[in-house]
Amino acid sequence: MNTDKILQLKKKIDLNRIPKHVAIIMDGNGRWAKERFLPRTSGHQEGVKRVVDIVEVATKLNIKYLSLYAFSTENWKRPKNEIESLMKLLVQYLREKLDKIYKNNIKIQTMGDLSKLPIIVRKEVEKAIKKTINNSGMVLNIALNYGGRDEIICGIKKILEDVRLGKLKEEDIDGEMFSNYLYTQNMPDPDLLIRPSGELRLSNFMLYQVAYTEFWFSDVYWPDFKEEHLYEAIIDYQKRKRRFGGI
Ligand code: IPE
Ligand code: IPE
Ligand code: MG
Repeated sequence: MNTDKILQLKKKIDLNRIPKHVAIIMDGNGRWAKERFLPRTSGHQEGVKRVVDIVEVATKLNIKYLSLYAFSTENWKRPKNEIESLMKLLVQYLREKLDKIYKNNIKIQTMGDLSKLPIIVRKEVEKAIKKTINNSGMVLNIALNYGGRDEIICGIKKILEDVRLGKLKEEDIDGEMFSNYLYTQNMPDPDLLIRPSGELRLSNFMLYQVAYTEFWFSDVYWPDFKEEHLYEAIIDYQKRKRRFGGI
């Protein structure tokens, strides 16, 4: 798409109704690479470049929360060398971009069980969280070793413990209270969920939080995902009528 067309598209966005929380299942890196006879890791490398681009575009659009699915609890099933290269890319991304992220007033958060990640990844992630903790701009929420079912089960266990300790009464447990036991406790539910790559599924992403989220699917692979795709998703989102069960 040429610059003129992208600008025209951008103008169609109502800046007063930007989704507050956008979540993206970054998918299709492997197929992107395969089509080019490249190793899957090249797809992941290219995918990281799109993370950099989309974070910048999202910041400019004043999106308040951007959640990115980077590694699922099921992705451990992949070959060891692919997992290693994904972890390396994450470390590299944080090392190279943390200063810029910090300067752009972005706050880094994560969701998922970080304890299972290699120590080098954990260290870099913890450093990024700590450095950006007082930033007040966009929250960049990275899902790492994240699974929606795992999150719900962990939440239930924490609730049971708090009930046992007398910190919580059973009758006080409701939907809102339950949200406080999830990784996303300090975030609103996603307004818009984007999945590129042509797959029409959630793959265990934010199962509890997406109850009333608007979905937007696209056939482009994540390494081909450009600012215009984000604009298209938002324009489409703004045309929809969200009823939340009402009329
Ligand atoms: C998404 O791309 C990256 C991660 C899951 C970490 P994939 O690696 O799943 O790419 P495809 O789906 O095989 O094309
Ligand atoms: C979802 O993609 C996980 C991430 C993008 C991190 P997958 O590629 O793992 O999902 P499936 O296996 O196609 O459902
Ligand atoms: Mg995939």
